[in-house]
Amino acid sequence: MKLASLLFTGLALIFAALVQFALTKHAVAQYVSPDPQALAHGQELYARECSACHGAEGEGDGPGAKYLSQRPRNLTLGVFKIRSTPTGEFPTAQDLFDSITHGLAGSNGAQMPSFASLSEADRWALVEVVRTFAWMDKEGAPVTVPPRPETVNLELGRQVYERLQCAACHGDEGDGDGASSLTLKDDDRRRIFAASLVSGSYKGGDAPEEVWTRFYTGLDGSPMPSYAGRASHEELWALTEYLLTLRAEAGASQEEKQ
Ligand code: HEC
Ligand code: HEC
Repeated sequence: MKLASLLFTGLALIFAALVQFALTKHAVAQYVSPDPQALAHGQELYARECSACHGAEGEGDGPGAKYLSQRPRNLTLGVFKIRSTPTGEFPTAQDLFDSITHGLAGSNGAQMPSFASLSEADRWALVEVVRTFAWMDKEGAPVTVPPRPETVNLELGRQVYERLQCAACHGDEGDGDGASSLTLKDDDRRRIFAASLVSGSYKGGDAPEEVWTRFYTGLDGSPMPSYAGRASHEELWALTEYLLTLRAEAGASQEEKQ
């Protein structure tokens, strides 16, 4: 009898822990379905501003697609590069809004223009269109960026860059010319080059927290992996500072040359 009740309590505890785990793992904000009027307005805007590249049905096959070095995203696959959420998860609505606002322009040639000139309401209406294409009924839960430490340890940053073998793709100096960069393909089986970490813009923005989030969550659909769990928060911050410094130094020497 005693054994049975112990066993029962044990099982109940394990069950509770599993439920807790499942809830935290998949803690996602449920979306409210789009306001039909906003969606209809967004669809008009989409036809005018986006379909030439992304295609009428969002499949990344608009008439302009063939002129671009990287394929406009097939929005129906629901895979996004710029996310504040863990790898494999949907982005947040804010992530999509930011991508539409800033565009995606990187040193490796993808060209999605900025739509900052559209009103905020227009950009939110476009977010609704994108999430409808992607069957995105919920947002991913964003990761928490730990606070930026006050002390900068560049030597640690350089060591982390070596230990995690960023150079294999991005090169020793971060120019994007690592040995593997010549053979990389994206999920569409298209050639893709590692980004230069020292020149050109970052697709996800170059504020320190944005750069941190890019390593931590990865760029889904591209060979750039997520480094969550591969280094401590302190190490990832040191790595961020190291890259920001490389970038600032490269920028300064560019200016000297001119
Ligand atoms: C000139 C072509 C072009 C136009 C116009 C364009 N895009 Fe894009 N878009 C791209 C390309 C190319 C990519 C892929 C960039 C990459 O993979 O780095 C992309 C990627 C995206 C992504 C994926 C972002 C991510 O995190 O992966 C979204 C969302 C998106 N576009 C939405 C839109 C919307 C909405 C519009 C209209 C307001 C639009 N795009 C207009 C070319 C375009
Ligand atoms: C297997 C090859 C590979 C490895 C290893 C790799 N990257 Fe990348 N990385 C890429 C590719 C490819 C891109 C370009 C993705 C794109 O534009 O879609 C990229 C893009 C980036 C970007 C640009 C993000 C943006 O917003 O545009 C940063 C920053 C970056 N990587 C940092 C790192 C760091 C730091 C490491 C090591 C911890 C690393 N990468 C390891 C392939 C790699």
